[in-house]
Amino acid sequence: MSLIDPVSLPLKLKRPVVGAPMAGGPSTPELVAAVTNAGGMGFLAGGYKRPQQLANQITTTRTLTQGPIGVNLFVVSENDIDEEELETYRQELKYYADRYGIEVGTPRWDDDAWQDKLEVIRDLKPDVVSFTFGCPDADVLQELNALGIHTAVTVTSTEEAHTAAERGARILIVQGPDAGGHRATFDPAAEPGTEPLPDLITAIKNTANLPLIAGGGISTREQVRATLGAGAAAVQVGTALLLSDEADTNLAHRSALQDPVFTETKVTRAFTGRPARGLRNRFMDDHARSGHAYPQIHYITAPLRAAAAADNDLQALHLWAGTGYPNARTGPAADIIAALSP
Ligand SMILES: Cc1cc2nc3c(=O)[nH]c(=O)nc-3n(C[C@H](O)[C@H](O)[C@H](O)COP(=O)(O)O)c2cc1C
Repeated sequence: MSLIDPVSLPLKLKRPVVGAPMAGGPSTPELVAAVTNAGGMGFLAGGYKRPQQLANQITTTRTLTQGPIGVNLFVVSENDIDEEELETYRQELKYYADRYGIEVGTPRWDDDAWQDKLEVIRDLKPDVVSFTFGCPDADVLQELNALGIHTAVTVTSTEEAHTAAERGARILIVQGPDAGGHRATFDPAAEPGTEPLPDLITAIKNTANLPLIAGGGISTREQVRATLGAGAAAVQVGTALLLSDEADTNLAHRSALQDPVFTETKVTRAFTGRPARGLRNRFMDDHARSGHAYPQIHYITAPLRAAAAADNDLQALHLWAGTGYPNARTGPAADIIAALSP
């Protein structure tokens, strides 16, 4: 029995385990459907995709499962960047580009096709839509709620939880400091919070009376139980699914997660400008001071990362992973979800 009664989710799940959206490849329709069919709920990652690709993935996922599915979108804020700092970083990266005989990418800002992706959500009505990197305006959340789509906002602090609740989010996704991939922190220039997940859950429960899905670093059944015991209605796991059969995690990333050369994870801005946790490698160590221009830094490093992946150069690639990565297992996602279920 839970120590603290959670506010229940508006959807019934047989297992309180949600598969995190993982942009950049891992979250396939097959993975999302496998997590849902195992009694949890899978999430498609809308970030970086073209709107039509996202629409196709939603449609495909619906053919693979009858259960609830989620879709995640990025909320990219306009930014005031330090052009000189960005140019210095570009110059610094030339050394890497020269190694592959390519050019450093061109920096640019875009909103990840926000309006067009919202239109896909309105049309195809996933059961849940979650947002990361920021909170949509109240009119957007309320419109989606009225369409019967459960809105969820990823938060990393009580202040962000307060904003999301005030604007009308129906679910909060609480991301703790051990999470793999990008921190969801609204302000890209802010340092992400370090409060341990159970404490963050307690603090947010005192701020907002909403159901919480909590994650970050969760890789064992005991951690799942502890997180539910702290008051979450469900947990969210990403890294635990990266080696699953259904995830389209690239081969370099898969091999790194199982390579004893890597012994720890670290939060870095070097790859994209936003803080993100991954396996500690040389690129992170060499570029500890990249600045926080997101998504400009994402675009300048993109060709380097693509070349590094093709070359299996694990020291120059972003290898997103949460602190629980040593427990990540290969095999069907259904088995991974069953093994984590309380
Ligand atoms: C490879 C990878 C990609 C991710 N991409 C996204 C994303 O597109 N959108 C998002 O909201 N969160 C993303 N995340 C963060 C997850 O939603 C979640 O917070 C995290 O996986 C939980 O921590 P864990 O990986 O330790 O389980 C990503 C995480 C990983 C590992």
